[in-house]
Amino acid sequence: MKTIEDIKAASNHIKALCDGGIDIAIVLGSGLGKLADKIEKPVKIKYKDIPGFPESTVKGHAGEMIIGELKGKKIIAMNGRFHFYEGYPLNTITFPIRVIKELGVNSLIITNAAGGMNPEFEAGDLMIITDHINMIGDNPLIGANYDALGPRFPDMSEAYKKEYIDLANRTAEKLNIMVKNGVYVPVSGPTYETSAELRYLRFLGGDAVGMSTVPEVIAANHMSMKVLGISVITDMAIADNLEPLDHIRVMETANKATEKFVRLVEGIIEEM
Ligand code: HPA
Repeated sequence: MKTIEDIKAASNHIKALCDGGIDIAIVLGSGLGKLADKIEKPVKIKYKDIPGFPESTVKGHAGEMIIGELKGKKIIAMNGRFHFYEGYPLNTITFPIRVIKELGVNSLIITNAAGGMNPEFEAGDLMIITDHINMIGDNPLIGANYDALGPRFPDMSEAYKKEYIDLANRTAEKLNIMVKNGVYVPVSGPTYETSAELRYLRFLGGDAVGMSTVPEVIAANHMSMKVLGISVITDMAIADNLEPLDHIRVMETANKATEKFVRLVEGIIEEM
């Protein structure tokens, strides 16, 4: 179990390497690390050098924090994240978000690669996350609550800030980038879903399925951070028409959508 002292130790380590004043944090999902190359005057800090940080074990996840400037804003980017299926408790997965908040950051953009369950979606689409249904079967806030971080029973009525959803949709329109809106459903993974599971998740109200994001979004809401979520739809996860899927295809499609994704996120950061 991570403590407030662990959070402070990690944040002090980062503060000593940059001059603070960070406006926005962004978590980059599978195959979306290209945005990191756009960051100006970057200070890179490997996860393995930050006290208390686990190491990312997934291909396509770099495993470093990058602090610098993008579109005139001071940002911190997590290039690579931690997943439940890697065997980490959710409390460990959300530790970097705790540290980011301790750095004084209140706005979080969180991104992922996801399967499209809504038949109106296509592989390569970007989806602004309007809400989620947590199907991981666990919650990062289970266990002792640190009242200094947030309440025992956090409100989730605007888990993804309406203000940011509107901003993202307006920015997409201005930049002529087509975006979808929808509900993200995370499962534990690491298996991709069976047809029957997809039928069930779609029936529940999901538009996209993935294996991340929601633990971090819960921790961010616990600490009253404002969250924007964006999924890149890397494959169609439709029960009656399910094709074999592997991580390479997910990464390839995410890479193809990168240019559009980077333009949208840069536009959003500029307006935030
Ligand atoms: N299912 C779960 N996670 C995913 C998928 C999927 O189809 N695509 C990318 N991440």
